Amino acid sequence: MARIAFFGTLRDWEEAALRERLLGHDVLVYPTPLSPSFLPEEAKGAEILSVFVDAQVSADVIAAFPNLKGIVTRSTGYDHIDLDAAAERGVVVANVPSYGENTVAEHAFGLLLALSKRIVDGYDMLRERGEYDPSRLTGFDLKGRTLGVVGTGRIGQHAIRIGNGFQMRVVAYDAYARKELEQELHFTYTPTLEDLLRQADVLTLHVPYLPATHHLINKDNIRLLPKGAVIINTSRGPVVETEALFAALVDGHLAGAGLDVVEEEGFVKDEMHLLAHGSAEGHNLKVVLMNHKLIDMPNVIMTPHSAFNTREALERILRTSLDDIDGILRGEPVNVVQPSH
Ligand code: NAI
Repeated sequence: MARIAFFGTLRDWEEAALRERLLGHDVLVYPTPLSPSFLPEEAKGAEILSVFVDAQVSADVIAAFPNLKGIVTRSTGYDHIDLDAAAERGVVVANVPSYGENTVAEHAFGLLLALSKRIVDGYDMLRERGEYDPSRLTGFDLKGRTLGVVGTGRIGQHAIRIGNGFQMRVVAYDAYARKELEQELHFTYTPTLEDLLRQADVLTLHVPYLPATHHLINKDNIRLLPKGAVIINTSRGPVVETEALFAALVDGHLAGAGLDVVEEEGFVKDEMHLLAHGSAEGHNLKVVLMNHKLIDMPNVIMTPHSAFNTREALERILRTSLDDIDGILRGEPVNVVQPSH
């Protein structure tokens, strides 16, 4: 029997399913994300931790679990886990490498269509104000525009397919381009990110968050995008430098942004916690403030990191996470992620 501690929100059906599959084990479930400020005493004997992207699994957190064998994240991204610290302790880290390729790409287009067809404004006009002013709802067509996809992995490839469905012209950039995809999916790789930016009327980001993708879109390159372009980010907040995005939206270089992820996104949802208990140390409060301004901009659509959140994707995530846990318990881990430098 192993002690397995789950952190972060689980729906009732998810908890029932995991308890059934892990029958005979000591299963602890905490709705609060694991972090240096949430380390419940009872969980400290856990051999396996299951977390979500809202966790902060730092070296100190890992050190608080002396029996720890594995950390399973119920997500594709794993930048919330200190992989070096885990490796040093011999703790296996496993993820869900694929569950949401169509799910996340569909969300990216949800954000894009909300912007291009001004859907939120239209709904707001009818529901909140009971008025209809078509002159304020003029959007733009996707057909014929150039879609720039950064990252042609699992999600990026679906974005390419969907873009073609809208009869967009699709270009893509990937640090590890797979040329054979061009013909199969009908798009063209650009040799550099800069080449892609110069062409993209719509830029959609599908890279993991790594040191190499920190502020991949930044003050120095954001204005290579054509005037009137829009940025869609469903990857990770820090892939885009908030200050650069904010400035380009304020001066009208960009026509809009659709953001499922932002830098410092923990505080978009829970600034009360920051004000009541938190310390600003290690956080960029200017970015927190800019996020609030971004939410209020009429040409910005923001969702709370919910691109993954469909019933089908959640079922796939749970199934794979439980396989990851099984693998660690059997001593034959699967879906292991390694530090990349
Ligand atoms: P993937 O690993 O299949 O594809 C990532 C692609 O990015 C690869 O083709 C890789 O070569 C490319 N890449 C890596 N470094 C690069 C760089 N420096 N420049 C350009 N390209 C680079 O990953 P997948 O499944 O497509 O997911 C992408 C990201 O989407 C995840 O890492 C995660 O952060 C994010 N995500 C967000 C979700 C949400 O709910 N908002 C849900 C699931 C994933």
